[in-house]
Amino acid sequence: MRTRKSSAAPAARTWLVTGGAGFIGSNFVHLLFAQEPNARVRVLDKLTYSANLKNLQLFRGHKNFQFIKGDICDARVVARAMAGADVVVNFAAETAVDRSIDDPHTFLRTDVVGVHTLLQQARKEPQLKRFIQISTDEVYGQIKRGSFYETSELRPRNPYAAAKAGGDRLAYSFFATYGLPVIITRASNNYGPRAYLEKMIPLFVTNLIDGQKVPVYGAGLQIRDWLYVSDHCRAVHMLVDRGVSGEVYNVGGGQECTNISLVRRILKLMQRGLQQAAAPWLAAGAQSAQRPAQHH
Ligand SMILES: NC(=O)c1ccc[n+]([C@@H]2O[C@H](COP(=O)([O-])OP(=O)(O)OC[C@H]3O[C@@H](n4cnc5c(N)ncnc54)[C@H](O)[C@@H]3O)[C@@H](O)[C@H]2O)c1
Repeated sequence: MRTRKSSAAPAARTWLVTGGAGFIGSNFVHLLFAQEPNARVRVLDKLTYSANLKNLQLFRGHKNFQFIKGDICDARVVARAMAGADVVVNFAAETAVDRSIDDPHTFLRTDVVGVHTLLQQARKEPQLKRFIQISTDEVYGQIKRGSFYETSELRPRNPYAAAKAGGDRLAYSFFATYGLPVIITRASNNYGPRAYLEKMIPLFVTNLIDGQKVPVYGAGLQIRDWLYVSDHCRAVHMLVDRGVSGEVYNVGGGQECTNISLVRRILKLMQRGLQQAAAPWLAAGAQSAQRPAQHH
């Protein structure tokens, strides 16, 4: 017997994307409208130094797009932004390791208290189908060889990573305690369009354009995995419907390289010689030769 496929389009969903004016969040909004043209998308963003409204310029005046300037630590604004949402994806965070070393408190506030404010509001939204907490592989700390598993011990090594670990585990606790449909993702280093200039690859490229040195710490032998930002966004979008509540998902790019080999590749692509990154490639102003570079 032949069966007929339903011709009904899936119901348009209402999304709250926090931190959507930043690097990954804005790429996610672009992907969302491409994948779900009828989606209703609200972005809640405090517009800190790393945000850029130009990242969302395409959607200005779009009938299904709403931008709310506000702080995820502010329960009133969060209640307004989340009202009736089907899906929440929390990209909002303080994200720069070096800044967290100078000012841990700001990181604890947004990356832990802000997550708590969102989770508390999520409990009051019975229609909510999914809450994605965007965490980071930095929560694992460092490893001599091999890769991290979702079950690896969390050993954050700087205030940024520790604050993210706090938000990550708090989100899990709201699944375990209240049954909230939470999923946690831990991605590796993202690269791609709309990145703030202090992130590693844009920083290297723009420094070289300006004829300056690039800040590689030590001998540049730290290994990073690099993930193209759209691949990260596609993984997050897929997990909304196909992920299992309470689970953690590592999202990697499978492109590991040392920082120094990254510099060499960028130099090659820019047709610059190693002499431009000279001395040989250590910037005189690098903050600490002992501290590994971790640009998230
Ligand atoms: N960039 C990476 O390589 C990487 C890798 C893994 C995970 N992550 C995680 O992905 C998320 C996004 O990172 P990103 O690189 O796009 O960062 P980003 O700094 O470019 O964007 C962060 C956004 O959050 C907003 N924000 C900050 N504090 C806020 C607050 N209190 N209330 C509301 N909005 C606030 C900022 O204005 C900004 O628009 C973060 O949670 C980060 O930990 C990033």
